[in-house]
Amino acid sequence: DKSLIEIGVHDLRDHATNVHRQVDDTPYGGGAGMVMMPEVWGKAIDQVIDKNSELIILTPAGKKFDQRMAEELSTKEHLIFACGRYEGIDDRVRQYYQSEGFKVREVSIGDYVLNGGEVAAIVIAEAVTRLIPGVLGNPESIVDESHAEDGYIEYPAFTKPAEWRGIKVPEVLLSGNHAKIKQWRLKMALQRTRDQRPDLLADRSLSKEESRLLQELDVELKAKQEQDSYN
Ligand code: ADE
Repeated sequence: DKSLIEIGVHDLRDHATNVHRQVDDTPYGGGAGMVMMPEVWGKAIDQVIDKNSELIILTPAGKKFDQRMAEELSTKEHLIFACGRYEGIDDRVRQYYQSEGFKVREVSIGDYVLNGGEVAAIVIAEAVTRLIPGVLGNPESIVDESHAEDGYIEYPAFTKPAEWRGIKVPEVLLSGNHAKIKQWRLKMALQRTRDQRPDLLADRSLSKEESRLLQELDVELKAKQEQDSYN
C-alpha cells in the first residue's frame, strides 16, 4: 500500500526450452536426484537482473541466515531469490553471475533440508522487509526484540490481566520502578539465553552487571537442583 517494497514472483518453467518445459536433468558424475539446468536459470535471471541486483541462491549448503544478514539485506536496492529444487542449481549459474560482477550469495535458513528454497525466500523476505523504514508501525520494537544488537534472547512478556488462571505477572513489572524492571529484564534475557541458546553466550564479553546476574542465576539454578534432588 505504501510502495515501500515491490515483490515479483516468476515461474521458472516459463523459461524452459523444450516441450516438456523441463527445468532439471541428471547430474554429471552420477548420483541420485536431479540438477536444475543452467540455461533455464540464466534466461530467468537475465530477465529480472539489473546493475542494482544482488543474487541470493537458497540452498541448505549456504551461509546461515541471521538477523545481521537481514539488516545488511534490508539496505539493498534489489534482491533476486533463486529457489532451487531437487539437488540444487548447476553451479555455473553462481559462477557466471559472480564473474559478471554481481554480488551472489548462497544462503540457508537453517540446518535442515526443505523441498525447495521457496519457503526460505519467504522467511528472508519477511525478516528483511520489516527492517525497511516505514514498514513497521513502531520502530522501537525492533530495538528490543530477540537477536537485536545486544545478541540476547528477549525477556518474557506479560500483559493484562495481572493474574490469569492462577498465574501472576512478576511483581517487579507492576512496581513502576524502571531501573528494577530494566535489571529484571536483563536477568531474564540472560537466563533464557543461557538455557536455550548457550552458543550466544559462549563467545562474548560480559559487562560487570551481566556477569553478576549470571552468577546469581547459577546460584539459583544450583539451589533449585538441590531442592529437586531432595524431592
Ligand atoms: N533449500 C532446501 N533447504 C534449504 C534451507 N535450509 N535453506 C535454504 N534453502 C533451502
